Amino acid sequence: MSKRKAKDAPLPVGKCISEVQDILRKRLCHQQLPDTPEGVEAQHKHLLELLKRTAVHGESNSVLIVGPRGSGKTMLLKCVLRDLLEEKEVERNLLQVHLNGLLQTDDKIALQEMTRQLHLENVVGDKVFGSFAENLSFLLEALKKGDRSSSRPVLFVLDEFDLFAHHKNQTLLYNLFDVSQSAQAPVAVVGVTCRLDVLELLEKRVKSRFSHRQIHLLSNPTFSQYLERVQTQLSLQDDFPDKTFAQDWNASVKTLCEDKSVEDALQRHYNSSKNFRSNHMLLMLCLSRVSVAKPAIKPADLLEASKMCLIDAQANMLHGLSILELCLIIAMKHLNDVYEGEPFNLQMVHNEFKKFLQRKSNSMYNFEQPVIMKAFEHLQQLEMIRPVDNSSVKTQREYQLMRLMLDNTQVMEALQKYPQCPTDVKQWAMSAYG
Ligand SMILES: Nc1ncnc2c1ncn2[C@@H]1O[C@H](COP(=O)(O)OP(=O)(O)OP(=O)(O)O)[C@@H](O)[C@H]1O
Ligand SMILES: [Mg+2]
Repeated sequence: MSKRKAKDAPLPVGKCISEVQDILRKRLCHQQLPDTPEGVEAQHKHLLELLKRTAVHGESNSVLIVGPRGSGKTMLLKCVLRDLLEEKEVERNLLQVHLNGLLQTDDKIALQEMTRQLHLENVVGDKVFGSFAENLSFLLEALKKGDRSSSRPVLFVLDEFDLFAHHKNQTLLYNLFDVSQSAQAPVAVVGVTCRLDVLELLEKRVKSRFSHRQIHLLSNPTFSQYLERVQTQLSLQDDFPDKTFAQDWNASVKTLCEDKSVEDALQRHYNSSKNFRSNHMLLMLCLSRVSVAKPAIKPADLLEASKMCLIDAQANMLHGLSILELCLIIAMKHLNDVYEGEPFNLQMVHNEFKKFLQRKSNSMYNFEQPVIMKAFEHLQQLEMIRPVDNSSVKTQREYQLMRLMLDNTQVMEALQKYPQCPTDVKQWAMSAYG
């Protein structure tokens, strides 16, 4: 009702701000599914068609959704289910069972949860079943329609799918996939996992019953796509009640994204993680700094938010290192600068460190090779350095190629805050040459 009126008369700024915060919070805090999930249109279509075959045509099926953390697997599945359930017939018929490998840690618990979600506790009562298979087929049998001519389609979603592979004998997986292959009842088994190698975890008899359909979410946006996404995520759409405010807001978002310092900060986020989840976290922090007095996101807000996001465990861990370990990290940083991120070995790091020592008159940093080796191993344990995988070739420890898992800014910032960091070490870290 008030919509048309509002278009004519601008809303008070306070109202606009709370409206913006409301819209963006919904978008960024996972409360609202996107209408069409960006960048995964093909996967959406594929999954929807697969599930339709079960829900509408009563065919059985199995599929895995595979993608890294935060890549939108759950979001994709939810969007597909939302679109699938738009059909009245499907909504009436389709039964859903959602299991999670983190919660249902063995098959007995999983079976209880299935029974509960299918509302069959009373039907099962205190019956004792010989095997999991018997129990499952009893459940599916109980779901037959009144005339017992056909079963209702059941969708099984197994989130953290890989964890189910650790259950004893993989009984649950075996039976679900077995049902999905036989004509017993129309079921769709959807596994969701972030392990690309998940099939290797499956026993042969389980694997052979799986359809080998996989939907991958491995989108790798370029930086300009990433920038564009930031802008879209922050922009208001045409249906915003106050047109002028929306235009101003969108213009300020555009200016924000074109700012050089903002671009640099975003580049750092892009380098460390490109997914929507971490992106949303950053933008949410920016949004929380908007107020009536400051009705736009300024570059400083984004830089501050970015700093908060990047306070990371790894940089904090640097503070717990010994001076020797810190020196090795600095040596690696220099190597990274000189060789542009090419891997290095301990010998190179040691040489770099020696160059620094040669410029000193005192010998307080004179360490024996085994001590250096030990420090290097500790850094590896902390996962600050990681071997470049060439496991087939057995090289001597000192010559094994490694990579530093921290970027320069992380090292420099951590160093600034390092308690009682010797000044000469700090200067060495800041110097451009080794
Ligand atoms: N294409 C997209 N468009 C808009 N938002 C997205 C998109 N992909 C992911 N997101 C958002 O990113 C966040 C993380 O997505 P989601 O929870 O689906 O990840 P996931 O792959 O299930 O991660 P996990 O392995 O940790 O369960 C969600 O808030 C989701 O709304
Ligand atoms: Mg998920």
